[in-house]
Amino acid sequence: MKTLVFAGSTRQQSFNRRLAREAAAMAKAAGSEVTLLELAELDIPMYNADLEARGTPADVLRLKRLLWEHPAWIICSPEYNGSYTALLKNTIDWASSPVVGDPEWTDGVKPFRGKVVGILSASNGRLGGLRSQSHLAPLLLNLECWLAPRAYALAGAASAFDDQGTLTDAAHQSGVRGVVEQVLWAAKRLHGEPAV
Ligand code: FNR
Repeated sequence: MKTLVFAGSTRQQSFNRRLAREAAAMAKAAGSEVTLLELAELDIPMYNADLEARGTPADVLRLKRLLWEHPAWIICSPEYNGSYTALLKNTIDWASSPVVGDPEWTDGVKPFRGKVVGILSASNGRLGGLRSQSHLAPLLLNLECWLAPRAYALAGAASAFDDQGTLTDAAHQSGVRGVVEQVLWAAKRLHGEPAV
């Protein structure tokens, strides 16, 4: 089972990037082949249909292929103003836009359909970015993703990681692992691997 993990932040000290690294390690420990995607490494501008008409950027095609190739995803969502970030929205908007003239990508839903997605969030606030999840979930459902019923919001993120970026609290570890394991469980069933 291939799992793609990414965070909706490019900030150097991002809590959600740290959370993504932890989730990726847990997925690997559970036997998954894991790709940790850093959105900062993709050269993707703010979506503009005029720009797109001149040709879909190469890194958007790279993104679409990465999404398509991984049946399981874990998204770590920061919260800005009670919702998810513009970076996440822009990434998803580009990935869902059909590529004119390319028979592989004329269906905008294709990279999303049937993907099993787990949503995590981290914030130093008391709700742990939970409100971002409530906006991100319907967006993904609209694109025909299958959402894991479990999710985890990491509150008090500023004191949740040690210097190595490891989650120190057993309750946080167990909350994140619960989502990761549920995503892998469901992805195996939906994507044809033998039931465990
Ligand atoms: C925030 N932040 C924030 N936090 C929160 O819990 N609820 C919120 O509504 C907001 N709103 C908000 C708006 C804007 C414009 C900014 C810049 C920040 C704080 C934010 O969640 C915090 O900076 C996180 O650390 C961002 O995630 P990363 O970069 O650490 O992953």
